[in-house]
Amino acid sequence: MIKEIKKIALLTSGGDASGMNASIRAITRYAKYKSLEVVGFYEGFKGLIANNYVMLDQASVGGIIDRGGTILYSARSEEFKTEPGMQKAIQNLKNIGVDGLIVIGGDGSFRGAHDLHIRGVQVVGIPGTIDNDIAGTDYSIGFDTALNVIIDLVSKIRDTAFSHDRLFVIEVMGRSSGIIAINAGVACAADYILIPEVEVDLVKIATKIKNHRQGKRHTLIIVAEGAAKASDVAASIKLLVGHEVRVSVLGHIQRGGSPSAMDRLLSAEFSKKAVDLLIKGESDCMTAIQGKKIVSVPFEYVINNKKEIDRELYKLAHVLS
Ligand code: F6P
Repeated sequence: MIKEIKKIALLTSGGDASGMNASIRAITRYAKYKSLEVVGFYEGFKGLIANNYVMLDQASVGGIIDRGGTILYSARSEEFKTEPGMQKAIQNLKNIGVDGLIVIGGDGSFRGAHDLHIRGVQVVGIPGTIDNDIAGTDYSIGFDTALNVIIDLVSKIRDTAFSHDRLFVIEVMGRSSGIIAINAGVACAADYILIPEVEVDLVKIATKIKNHRQGKRHTLIIVAEGAAKASDVAASIKLLVGHEVRVSVLGHIQRGGSPSAMDRLLSAEFSKKAVDLLIKGESDCMTAIQGKKIVSVPFEYVINNKKEIDRELYKLAHVLS
């Protein structure tokens, strides 16, 4: 028999992503529509351990759909990785009478959520990271907004690169994944994309640049932070090509800004799905989009698999450049 749930909790964890607020709003409003009480924990698992929470209702999540970041704040908690830390968190959930928990974050957060499930907590996840590197889902919340931010910034860089006849090495986020870099590279018409999944051959790139540059006043190289440091790439390219090179590290600007239409829609659909999963008694899984379908994927799969890059898209980027 499915245990009836009356009170749910939610938290945002890991690197913030645009659309987290849209998710907080949608979870709260949909849960209220289903007559559930809603508790929001501040600062992710850190706040769960510290018992730092707020009751949420329709009014308290008004006016946040278009705000980047997260009104519940985020954190990366080392204490939560310890047994005493986890037990404190579980005790707090019990004391408040929480029946089910929603974790919005990346795969690291879902490792923590899976550990909670093993210890008897009913918990589901919503993928939220600009990296879009979570196995089992085509998209995570924040990725599309970050891409749009990058497009905007790179087109500004292109203006100045063209004016000065310069090469630019632009570093985008992606600690262990080149997914942002590939997609940004295609969307921004980058000439070269350096990603952690493919070995970098700077000599080959330098030769191509030399051959390519006839009649061209700008060359854009996008490098994922996990592949190499933009400054190192720039120094080598300058040496090999003998042309002026500038560096631009986009950094945390990529994580901010008002969520795109796609991220708002995804937030609404993932949030409804997450609440419905809890009501149905499901646990230990993440909401996901596969094709056009909103589905759920077991945490076991999410945390034990690495999302593959789209090698065809990577190839296409270089064909089109
Ligand atoms: O959230 C993912 C991410 O933005 C990565 O792309 C990046 O490497 C990392 O977070 C940066 O983390 P922090 O905000 O802790 O510097």
